[in-house]
Amino acid sequence: MIKIEIAENAGFCFGVRRAVEIAEKAAEKHGKVFTLGELIHNEAAVEELHKKGVCAVNSVDEAAGEVLIIRSHGVPKSEKEKANLLCKAVLDATCPYVAKIHGIVGRLSENGSVIVLGDENHPEVVGIMGNSSPKAFAAKSFEEVESLFNSGAIGENVSLVVQTTFDRERFLDISQRIREKYPRVQIYSTICNATAQRQESARELAKRAALMVVVGGKSSSNTKRLAEICREYTKTVFVSNAAQMPEQIAKNLPADCVVGITAGASTPGYIIKEVHQIMNEEIKTTNENEEDFASLLEQDQSFTRLYTGKRVKATIVSVSKKEAVVEVGAKQTGYIVREELTNDPNAEVEDVVKPGDVIDAVVIKVDDNVGTVALSKKRVDAALGLEKLQAVKDANETIEGKVAQVVKGGVIVIYENTRVFIPGSHTSVPRGGKLDDLVGKPVKFKIIEVSNERGGRVVGSIRQANKEVRDAAKAKFWETIEVGQKFEGEVRSIENYGVFVDIGAVDGLVHTADLTWNRVGHPKDIVKVGDKINVIVKSFDPEKKRVSLSAKDPEDNPWTKFVSEYKKGDVIKATIVSITEFGAFAQIIPGVDGLIHISQISTERVANIASVLTVGQEVDVKIIEIDEERERVSLSIRALSEDTDASEEATEE
Ligand code: F3S
Repeated sequence: MIKIEIAENAGFCFGVRRAVEIAEKAAEKHGKVFTLGELIHNEAAVEELHKKGVCAVNSVDEAAGEVLIIRSHGVPKSEKEKANLLCKAVLDATCPYVAKIHGIVGRLSENGSVIVLGDENHPEVVGIMGNSSPKAFAAKSFEEVESLFNSGAIGENVSLVVQTTFDRERFLDISQRIREKYPRVQIYSTICNATAQRQESARELAKRAALMVVVGGKSSSNTKRLAEICREYTKTVFVSNAAQMPEQIAKNLPADCVVGITAGASTPGYIIKEVHQIMNEEIKTTNENEEDFASLLEQDQSFTRLYTGKRVKATIVSVSKKEAVVEVGAKQTGYIVREELTNDPNAEVEDVVKPGDVIDAVVIKVDDNVGTVALSKKRVDAALGLEKLQAVKDANETIEGKVAQVVKGGVIVIYENTRVFIPGSHTSVPRGGKLDDLVGKPVKFKIIEVSNERGGRVVGSIRQANKEVRDAAKAKFWETIEVGQKFEGEVRSIENYGVFVDIGAVDGLVHTADLTWNRVGHPKDIVKVGDKINVIVKSFDPEKKRVSLSAKDPEDNPWTKFVSEYKKGDVIKATIVSITEFGAFAQIIPGVDGLIHISQISTERVANIASVLTVGQEVDVKIIEIDEERERVSLSIRALSEDTDASEEATEE
């Protein structure tokens, strides 16, 4: 069966249809009315309007004393003022999307400049320039914008609007280049989607159709373009009206196929309907699409209809410090203020989006009077974020985000544009510490609560993430620990008997005697809390979770040094370091003391060692014994006197 389909967007655009309706109603009331220029680019439609009393004139003067209709393109302000003076009545059928641009340029400060991106001879551009408060300049390309700046004609305060029918791709490209080179330019996206959507609908239908019928005026550039597009995909006929339909057009079509109909923006619905009827008769199909067709023509489908809460795809057109201007395929200019772009109070607009980005956003306010629509990105992100974070919680994953601010009772971390509250007790900051130190820092955390209440609440915990890391590290530590293993640790606390050292997974104890090879009074004389020291595992008990450490490096063992440099019989200098009842200890080298037994101090009997030797005194001694096994050295002063006596006796002999 052959099926006829009309392109989703075809025929009159909203602005043209509205202008035609205004003109027809006025003609009905006044008998005859005049339009400043032809209302639409379609010969048959113009003729039809003429029959109804709608005639075109080329200047306001020609319509003096009559009812004048301003067509959808709009006119310069001066032209309208003149018409108000000369004509009996003036009906303004300027398309609301064009009027919106007039509103924008009319509100701008007079000491600025306006650039209108478009064709300077197009009536719409002429009208926009004639409604601008600041001086306006037309440009068709980035290069023309550049030369305007180079000429010095453009001041500091520059705004840019764009002709409603300007090519969208070109606009995005030019606006991005302008933003990069002239960031101070305030860019307004004022493109109307009607043309692009008609082309897209025609393309989509032509790809599926065995035949396309394009309906519209032969001089209408947008209709010619539709025909070009359709020809790229399928056999296409281009007619102005039903009378031009070739005979037996359906001959040779496959038995089961689609015939598509599309029409330019200035093609009236009744012409499309006639073409549709002829096709219907020709291929003798049922008129099952008739109702759809009627409703299609009733509706303006060129634009996305916006309402608060609607989710849309938005293309970033330009960014400034305060907001991003976006295109959402609607008649209004879209914008997202910085606060609605991101939850991060420290982020700039340009950190979040850049021109050309396509983002998901939600409508938060539509203002048809001003022609703007306020959107929010962060609210969409938050909704998506809640889902994601619930999944993170369910999977017990650890995620990373940046601390954005300190709030009452904790901090806010931003994770993929969602605010996560981390109570102070769940941060890594100890009680009494400063949460401000966390701001701006990336942190790893777990999600411990996700709730949809009050627009969504997510609670996280850095502490839990840290604990998991510590537990894993501890398990690995006990699996791999060995005697002799070396660590760099941090002194955690100091006790009378030694120091506790954090070696990553656990704290180990270094006894005072194991702190250094030298004699130690108190551990605090050697280290302080926070010091980094190298330690070696002496022993460990996985059951009791205890590790005994030593800070003495075997390679620095002074005994090794002593035995390699000294031998029994050597006469050396040593320093008395302590005195006991049975003798005095004298340091030979740091870490090795020798004992001078009370009987080895003098050839005379010594009753009180302190009367003979004092701590710190340097004495000459002889090494009389080295016990390598017990690492002990015996010294003697007396042996030196005996040696002297012996040698004197030998000399006398
Ligand atoms: Fe208006 Fe767009 Fe038509 S600006 S006249 S609706 S093409």
